[in-house]
Formats: sequence, C-alpha cells, structure tokens
Amino acid sequence: MSEKKSSGKMWGGRFQQGTARAVEDFTCSVHFDSRLYRHDIRGSRAHARMLARQGLISDTDCAAIITGLDAISAEIDNGSFEFKRELEDIHMNIEKALSDRIGDAGARLHTARSRNDQVALDLRLYLRDQCDCFEQLLQDIRRALVELARNNFGLIIPGYTHMQRAQPVLVSHHLLAYYEMFGRDRERIGDCRKRTNVMPLGSAAMAGTGLPIDRKSVAEELEFTAISRNSMDSVADRDFAAEFLFCCALIQTHLSRLSEELVIWASDEFGFVDIADSFCTGSSIMPQKKNPDIPEIVRGKSGRVLGNLVSLLTTLKGLPMTYNRDLQEDKEPVFDSVDTVSACLEISADLLHNLKFNHGRLAAAVHGGGFMTATDLADYLVTRDIPFRRAHEITGQVVAHCLNRGIDLKDMDLAELKKFAPGIDAGVFERLSVEGSVASRVSAGGTANIRVEEALARAEEELGI
Ligand code: ARG
Repeated sequence: MSEKKSSGKMWGGRFQQGTARAVEDFTCSVHFDSRLYRHDIRGSRAHARMLARQGLISDTDCAAIITGLDAISAEIDNGSFEFKRELEDIHMNIEKALSDRIGDAGARLHTARSRNDQVALDLRLYLRDQCDCFEQLLQDIRRALVELARNNFGLIIPGYTHMQRAQPVLVSHHLLAYYEMFGRDRERIGDCRKRTNVMPLGSAAMAGTGLPIDRKSVAEELEFTAISRNSMDSVADRDFAAEFLFCCALIQTHLSRLSEELVIWASDEFGFVDIADSFCTGSSIMPQKKNPDIPEIVRGKSGRVLGNLVSLLTTLKGLPMTYNRDLQEDKEPVFDSVDTVSACLEISADLLHNLKFNHGRLAAAVHGGGFMTATDLADYLVTRDIPFRRAHEITGQVVAHCLNRGIDLKDMDLAELKKFAPGIDAGVFERLSVEGSVASRVSAGGTANIRVEEALARAEEELGI
C-alpha cells in the first residue's frame, strides 16, 4: 500500500507517516456530509461568539472568524469552494479553509470543541429543519386529500375488508382516512423535533471540558430548548436520527398504501379513477398501455426508506460508549430518507390533483352486487327486536337465497323477506339501498353524509382552507 504523505491534516501532530491514499478514500465523508455546511457554519458562529463572551478568544479573533465563515459559506453557496477529500469531512474542510484565510484566529475556533459534539450538533440542526419541512409537506398532501374529498362529496364507493366488498362508503370518507394517517405522522414529526431540539455542543470529545464555556447561551443563540445533560450520551446518541427515520418509514408506509390503492383503482378491472395522461407513462411495446408509474415508484421506494431505518438501528446496536467512527454511517440513510420521502410526498400530492373519479364505474360497482347492505338488513332486524346473532343468521340465509336465485337483496319482495322474519315491513327497502346504507351510518366517525360533512369542515378548519 502506498504511504504517500498528504499535507494539511488537522490532527497530524503525533503521526510519523502520511495517511495511505486508500485510507483517505475509505474514511472520507465530505462527498455526502458537505450537505451539512450551513448548519456546521451556523454552529461555529455561535460557538465563536460564546468563546469571545467567555474571554476564551478575543473579540478581534471572533470578528475574523465570523467574517471568514461568512465568506466560506458564500463560496460553498456559489460552488467555488474546493472540497478536499484528504480533509475527511465537512467540519475539517471548513476549519482548514478558515485557518488558511485568517491564520491563528481560525485555529482558535476549535477551542473547547470536538468534532464529536460538533457533528452531533450539525445533525440535530439539520434534522430540526427537516422536521419543519416535513410538517409542511404533510400539510400539503393533507390539503390535497381534503380538496379531493370536498370535490367528490356525496360519491359512493365500495368499502372493502379482505379485498372483498364490505359496506358502501363515501369516497370522501375513504380519502379522509388518509388525512388522519398523515395527521398522526405530522404529530409524530413534531414529537421527534422536540427530542431533536436539544443542544449537545460543549460535551467536547465525550467528557466535557475544563475551559469556562457557557453552553446555555449557545443553545439560546441556536434556538434550542435545552442543553443535553450527559456529555457521554450527547456524543453517542443518535436516537433522534433513528426516530426521524422511523417517522419517515411510517410516512412512506402510508404513502405506499395510498399508492397501492391508486394502482388498484386505476386498473381496468376497477376503473374507479382516471389518472391524467401527464401523470402516467406508456409501454415501449404495448401501444394501448397507460401505466400508473408514479404510485408504483412511490410504493417501490418503501424498500429503501424502511431499509434506512434498519440500517441506522443496526449501526447503533453494537456500539459501546461513546463516539465511534461507525456513527459516520448515520448520515447517508438520513439524507436518503429525507430526499426520498419528501419527493414522494410532493409527487403524491400532485398526483391527487391529477386524479378523477369515474362516476359511472363507481355507480356500477356499488350497485353491482356483493351484498354490501347485508349488515344493514341485520341492523334493521335488530330494530325489530331480534338479537343480533340471530339477525346475522337470518340475513345469511337471505343472502344464500339471493345467491341461489342470482338476485340482489334489494330485488327481494316483501312477502319473500317476511318468510325469513315476519316482523320485516316495507321500511326495510330504504335500508337496503346503497344510499340509505351510507346515510344511516351516523355513529361518530361513521360514513354518513352528515358525519363526513362535519369531518370535512373540521379538516378544512385545521388546514385554514
Ligand atoms: N466525519 C465524522 C462523522 O461524521 C465526524 C466526527 C469524527 N470524529 C472523530 N473523532 N474522528 O461522524
């Protein structure tokens, strides 16, 4: 292995040999952690100001550090900053550039700080911002669902259990089920933000520092609600990242379920929805095809998003206290989930705006058999003082009778129905209609138009529509 000496290592003092090129390549993370540069610089500014307030560096040095960091930030923004692989990561790239620019003042920035608490700080700052972005993206998809639910209010769709027709429901009720899921996801992201919003800087390498720092003032400047309580935990902890990845995994799971539904609904067999041409793609061989690729890809991306959670948990599970370089493996799964889930949330919201329900196919489906109002008949019998288990049995016999004759419940005449239960009267037919069935489900959270109207109004109020 070549032992080519490479210059400018920030930790080079105790080393006699330069780092092997292969080692530099293997340990380098700047090609992905450069994404943290804004947060790294923000943290360094706050740290430098605190050092100056505490008299650990002079005000002149502090001013030079802030100006230097601003210039580096601008260079990275405009793409002129040269990242050096041999400087390992974003933290040392920035620190070295600062020292090159302002000399000794730059070399004072790392006083009372380690990359271990620095990287923990950066990741927390980054994820705190991402929590805010995700809260917004979740509101956007919830808004798209509510708008679609409002525009299709009154439309009836078969509700399924076991993928078998179960009971008729309003399309709006079905869509608002996803509104609820994404609402819980949003709350979960909010909870994750709370635990992310704790300031680790000042833990230094892992034991704290003997220099007279003021951690609380750094936390205030960086808008953290608290400082971490144990220096060892502070540099070892990635719970907040794992929690964020879990939130991502569950959001993606919900998106995948919605996508699966859309793929089914868009099939010729169902034909419940039509996705706009601009949101579909074709086949290179079958000219007739219009494929629902967007929901398929969203569904497909669940694999990597769930994998990212497992990846980080697996990295963490074998680690003794405190910082271990394994922790460098935390970032790529986090970045990948951020990118993947935010893209999926955005495109799925757009897709909902490009979706039309096919009224004809839905009407054919809800009126096309499946005995979806059988429970209504059983409930009706209960109102005729028949115990529910007996009512269930009688209704089962009526269904079997209809199946034999190839007719639907609503095609039975009253005299025939009375043979099964003499107490049945003409009022039953209202209950056997699909519309009557939907309208009757007035229990809190049920699909009756009046309940769904309330749910829609509540959702619109929550979203400020
Ligand atoms: N690049 C490292 C990471 O992402 C930064 C911390 C390295 N600390 C150290 N002592 N080598 O975790």
